Amino acid sequence: MPRSHIRLRRPAHERQSRSERRTAPTELVLALDGDALPRIVYWGQDLGDAPETGAEGVDPGRGILAAISAQIMSAGVDASESPSILPTQSEGWTGTPMLSLRRRGIEVFPKFLLRATRAEGSSCLIEAEDPEAGLSLAFRIGVEASGLVRLRATLTNRSDTELEVERLWLGVPVPADHDEILSQTGHHLRERSMQTHAFVDGLFAKETWVGRPDFDSTSALIAARSGAGWETGAQRAVHLAWSGNGVHFAVRTPATRGFIGAGELLLGGEVHLGAEQSYETPELFASWGEGTNALASRFHAHLRELHPGFSQRPRPVTLNTWEALYYDHDIDKMMRLARLGAQIGVERFVVDDGWFTGRRDDTSALGDWSVDTGVWPDGLRPLSDLVHALGMEFGLWVEPEMISPRSLLAEAHPDWILRPNAARLPLEGRHQQVLDLTNPEAFDHLVETLSALVADEGIDYLKWDHNRFVLEAISPASGRPAVHAQTAALYRLLDELKERCPGLEIESCASGGGRIDLGILARTDRVWASDCTDPLERIDIQRGTSLLVPPEMIGAHIAQSPSHMTGRATALATRAATALTGHLGVEWNLLDADPADLEQLRAWVSLYKGARPNGCELVHVDCADPAVRVTGLLLPGGRRSLWRFAALTTSQHYPYELIRLPGLDPRGLYRVRPHGRPEMYARLMNPSALGPLEWWDEEGVRLPGGVLAQWGIRPPHLLPGSAVLIEVEKLGDEQP
Ligand code: GLA
Repeated sequence: MPRSHIRLRRPAHERQSRSERRTAPTELVLALDGDALPRIVYWGQDLGDAPETGAEGVDPGRGILAAISAQIMSAGVDASESPSILPTQSEGWTGTPMLSLRRRGIEVFPKFLLRATRAEGSSCLIEAEDPEAGLSLAFRIGVEASGLVRLRATLTNRSDTELEVERLWLGVPVPADHDEILSQTGHHLRERSMQTHAFVDGLFAKETWVGRPDFDSTSALIAARSGAGWETGAQRAVHLAWSGNGVHFAVRTPATRGFIGAGELLLGGEVHLGAEQSYETPELFASWGEGTNALASRFHAHLRELHPGFSQRPRPVTLNTWEALYYDHDIDKMMRLARLGAQIGVERFVVDDGWFTGRRDDTSALGDWSVDTGVWPDGLRPLSDLVHALGMEFGLWVEPEMISPRSLLAEAHPDWILRPNAARLPLEGRHQQVLDLTNPEAFDHLVETLSALVADEGIDYLKWDHNRFVLEAISPASGRPAVHAQTAALYRLLDELKERCPGLEIESCASGGGRIDLGILARTDRVWASDCTDPLERIDIQRGTSLLVPPEMIGAHIAQSPSHMTGRATALATRAATALTGHLGVEWNLLDADPADLEQLRAWVSLYKGARPNGCELVHVDCADPAVRVTGLLLPGGRRSLWRFAALTTSQHYPYELIRLPGLDPRGLYRVRPHGRPEMYARLMNPSALGPLEWWDEEGVRLPGGVLAQWGIRPPHLLPGSAVLIEVEKLGDEQP
């Protein structure tokens, strides 16, 4: 009997070690049916080891397919709708097209025939073709160690006639009870706010057309059982690992249960294939879990696998000069700032924008990546030598994909700018245009210039910015739209630089969090979540960013008060409590800070070094009270955790309600106390609480994990707009 299914699951030892954890092991079942394209008939929790043959046997492929297949219904086609791995009209798919192709302007309607399936561990290569249409398809699908499902398709033109690819999107089915959609939106200074609505019939699409995911992109598009939250409720999500134009969508028709997916958005003429040429989609990642925390933790595990060094090498405390000095570059000031940074415990000193030739403000000079000798007569070396001598790493801001029309580079190479036509340039954004990385000369120039800069100036780290939209982008070199090719070239550029400069770390910034996705994060080591450093804004921005990114990769800086972005004043403890739950940095003109502030900063930095978030499990708590936020970092080893309680505003409750600390061992005994000395939080205590909070001292209180998880503790009654850190430490495994 021909094979009826392919089960994709991790090896037994991995499944066992995972099954105890909240992120249970994943399985995906593909049903095979003759030469039709396989169908995903199940994905989610591993189905266990029931026998697949014999009288007692379970045949997951045939069994599930038989169990879920619909009857053929009136007034449609003579097939029941059950999407294959690449549904098309040839199988009766009536949802939004997943594949759209043209030859000489005429739509091509493929019907792929399965030719081979090759299982390789927990992944599988599926090969199919449509000889009539002159197409072949290679489709890879697998289950990662993180439990993520990973998909990618490659389409090849087997005909001599040019093939225009308009769309090749990927998706996965979701259970019918996933009737809510969770996604994110946002803007500059307020990235990644959650939004929820019903998953009704129709198409919901979140698109980006600006050459990067942008501030309002969704880190993942989630379909969930209604009422699901961070802690509970079945949910499934997709994420497109791509830093150019793209779409995440959810589609439901009267015939099709939910289907979620994503793909690249292509411009006319952007992907045109000659004979034997291929288009490879960006990778689609799919995650699932009970609660958004579980779903997110699979993305975290994936990124940690890509950056194994992070668990060995602590993420260095960073000082960034932007909000400290802006364009006021002066070698003496920089050196004094570096010394003060080292005194408070900083481990990486990053010189932001303003160091290169002619860059005295943001109106000029992008592209001229040589040190401005008017400001830095001996280059950056004297500073980077000092920084290294002080035991810190040296970092530098760059924005390589951009070019200022007022620059030496633009004068020398006006044809290196992406533009709609010879007669006009796109609208300017921050006085800049986009450099054509698809032009091999421009690309080589950048590789050479940047790698020489890193070597000559002693650079360990680049903050890599991208401050404008990529619009009306046609390459003067190729005469074709270039967002796809520009994105691929960016990846090549980053890969090449990392290869030429071993150990170099790179931060992804795009006016803050405008470019955060698994494509860029496979090549970069940190994200700048937002230009907004006001802690009360940051709490939700960092929470939204952590849907995809683990906390040790989310740059979070203690800035000055009042905030440069919101004008709001906050206490240092609140700013610190927010920044300590990410990759800690300081972005503050320490030259103006008073000695007491410096002393306190030193204390916060030292506290961070004792509990860095590397490798932690992140737990956002569902709080009924909209005025508060509770987030926990369960540190590796299972004994210590940090919890941030934030009172964003005053509450209906007086005092604030009990807060739960879930995810702890219910039978373990824990000590709960302030993280750091209670005096560090003294200024946050609300005078309308007339008596002390009994446990808020260095002794704290001892409680079973079950009480903490299910019932909770009373938080201090804080001033509105404050946050504190609570430390929870396991004392024994059993209650006394
Ligand atoms: C962008 C970044 C900031 C800073 C400036 C410098 O706005 O997001 O952090 O680096 O550029 O011009």
